[in-house]
Amino acid sequence: MKLPPAPSFVIRPAVMPDLDALAAIDALCFPPGIAYPREEIAFLLSTSAVVVLVAERSCVVVGFAALERRRRARQDARYGELVTIEVLPQFRRESIGGALYRTLEDHARAWGASSLHLHVSVENTAAASFYLRLGFRAVRRIPRYYLHKIDAWRMEKDLL
Ligand SMILES: CC(C)(COP(=O)(O)OP(=O)(O)OC[C@H]1O[C@@H](n2cnc3c(N)ncnc32)[C@H](O)[C@@H]1OP(=O)(O)O)[C@@H](O)C(=O)NCCC(=O)NCCS
Repeated sequence: MKLPPAPSFVIRPAVMPDLDALAAIDALCFPPGIAYPREEIAFLLSTSAVVVLVAERSCVVVGFAALERRRRARQDARYGELVTIEVLPQFRRESIGGALYRTLEDHARAWGASSLHLHVSVENTAAASFYLRLGFRAVRRIPRYYLHKIDAWRMEKDLL
C-alpha cells in the first residue's frame, strides 16, 4: 500500500516565546493599520479564550492562526470567531493554511461550537477563495469595516 507523503510541517499550540515570530509574520501579511499591534498578538497568546496555533517547518514558524471561543449572551450557544490565519508568502499553496484551519475547526467542534464566523476584506480575494473552499459562505457585506474605508465580508460556517 502506498501511503501519502508526510506533511513537511508541524502544527502546535503557540506559546509566548513565539510572539516575535507571529508579529513578524503579521507585519508581512498585512499593511500598517490592518496588521495587529504587537500588544494585541501578546494578548491573543495570553488569554484562555483564544486558541493560537503555529505551523513550523524545520523548527521555523511559517504561519499561525487564532480562534476565539465565544458564547451568545442569551442562548448560551457556543461559536468560534476566527481571528486570523496567516502563512508567510513563500510557504503559501502548500496546504499549511488549510491544516491550521482544520486543527482550529476540530478544536471548535470538540469545545461544542455550532458555527464559525470571520471577517475578511472584500479586497482579499485570495483569503475569500480559501474560506469558500473550506465551506464558509458570505452572509453580508459590512461597509468601511477596515480603516474606515474598506468593506468586509462577514462569513460563516455551520459545524452541525
Ligand atoms: C489565506 C491564506 C492563509 C491561505 O494559506 P495557504 O497555506 O496558502 O492555503 P492552502 O495552501 O491550504 O490553500 C487551500 C486552498 O485555498 C484556496 N486558495 C488559497 N490561496 C488562494 C489564492 N491565492 N487564490 C485562490 N485560491 C486560493 C485554494 O483552493 C487552495 O487549494 P489549492 O492550492 O489546492 O488550489 C494565505 O494566503 C495568507 O496567509 N494570506 C495572507 C493573510 C490573510 O489574508 N489571512 C486571512 C485573514 S482573514
